[in-house]
Amino acid sequence: MSDLSQIFFANNPKMNKIKSTIDEVAKTDITVLIKGESGTGKGLLAQAIHLNSHRQDKPFIKVNCAAIPKGLLESELFGFEKGAFTGAHLEKPGKFELANNGTILLNDIGEIDISIQAKLLQVLQDGTFSRLGGSGDVTVNTRVVATTKDHLERTMMEGNFREDLFFRVNVISITVPPLRDRREQIFPLSQYYFDFYKKKYGRETPPFSSPVISALREYAWPGNIRELENVVKRIVLLGEENTVLQSISNSRLVDGRNPEPNGDGSPNASGENKYFNLKEVGKRAAEVAEKEIIQNTLQETHWNRKQAAKLLRVSYKALLYKIQKYHLDDIRGCRKVGEETG
Ligand SMILES: Nc1ncnc2c1ncn2[C@@H]1O[C@H](COP(=O)(O)OP(=O)(O)OP(=O)(O)O)[C@@H](O)[C@H]1O
Ligand SMILES: [Mg+2]
Repeated sequence: MSDLSQIFFANNPKMNKIKSTIDEVAKTDITVLIKGESGTGKGLLAQAIHLNSHRQDKPFIKVNCAAIPKGLLESELFGFEKGAFTGAHLEKPGKFELANNGTILLNDIGEIDISIQAKLLQVLQDGTFSRLGGSGDVTVNTRVVATTKDHLERTMMEGNFREDLFFRVNVISITVPPLRDRREQIFPLSQYYFDFYKKKYGRETPPFSSPVISALREYAWPGNIRELENVVKRIVLLGEENTVLQSISNSRLVDGRNPEPNGDGSPNASGENKYFNLKEVGKRAAEVAEKEIIQNTLQETHWNRKQAAKLLRVSYKALLYKIQKYHLDDIRGCRKVGEETG
C-alpha cells in the first residue's frame, strides 16, 4: 500500500497538488467529495485521507451505494432494531455506527435514493440518526468521504439529489484525473503491479519488452488503473505479452492525445480533423523511427551516450533529451533487472 500510494501521487503536478490537499484535509473532519472516472483510484485516495488522519487506528468502512438495492440501503447505513421489519430477529448496527470514530466511504453517493437523503443530511450535520424501527437518536462521530463518477450537479438538477445535501457534501472536492492525463505514472504503476503479482503468484515472468512498454504508455486506458492492473496481472499470470499487446494496440489511436472533435470520429465541418490527424500520423511515424534508431545505437555502444551522440551526429544534450522523451532509461533499467534475476 505505501509503495502504491507513493507512485500514485508522484510524477504529475495534478497528483502532487492532490497530495497536498489530502495532507491538509486529513487533519480535519471535513466531508470530502472525490470525483473521477471509474478505476482512477478514488478509493485509494479515500483510504489515504483516513490513514493520514487522527482516525487511522479506527475503522474505515466502505459502502458501495450503487450495489445495494434501494430498499436495503437505509438499514445498511443506519442499522435496525429488533422487530423493525419482518425477519429482523435481532438488532443490527449500521455502517455509520460501525465506522464510529473512524471514516465511512460512501461510494457513488449520487446513487443514494432521494428518500434516504434527508437522513443522510442530518447525520452529516450533527452526527445523529435513528435506526430503522428505533425511537431514540444514535449519535456518532464518523467522518464522511464520498465518491462520484457522475456530475453530481446534474443529478441535482434532475431532481435526484437534494440541493442542501449537495452543498453539505461538496465542501471540499477533489477531481482525480484519468490515467491518460497522467501518462508519466503508467510505467511506474505497471512495474508496481508487475512486481506485486510476480511475488504473489511466485512467477518468473521476464520483464516487459520494449514494445509492450510503448504499448502500455500509448494506450488510452478507458478503465484507468483498474484496467492497467488487470492487464499487467494477465501478463504475469499467462505470460502472453503478444495477446495483450494486440488487444491494447488495436485501441491505441483512440487516446487522449488524438481527440475526435465530433465524438464519433468524423471530420468536423471545416475538415480540420482530417489534416490534424495526417500531421499527427507523420509525427508519430517519425518518432517511432527516431526512437528505434536511438535505442539500437545505444545498445551498440553499450549505453555510451557520448559515443552514441557522435554516431547519431547530435549533441550530447540533445541525445539526453531524446532518451528522456522516449523513456529509454526505463527500458534499460527494466532489462537490467531481468538480466540480474534471469
Ligand atoms: N490498497 C491498494 N493496493 C493495491 N491496489 C489498490 C489498492 N486500492 C485500490 N487499488 C487498485 O487501484 C485501482 C483503482 O481502484 P479504486 O477502487 O481506488 O478506483 P475508483 O476510482 O474508486 O473506481 P470505482 O469508481 O470504479 O470504484 C484498482 O485496480 C484497485 O485494485
Ligand atoms: Mg472505488
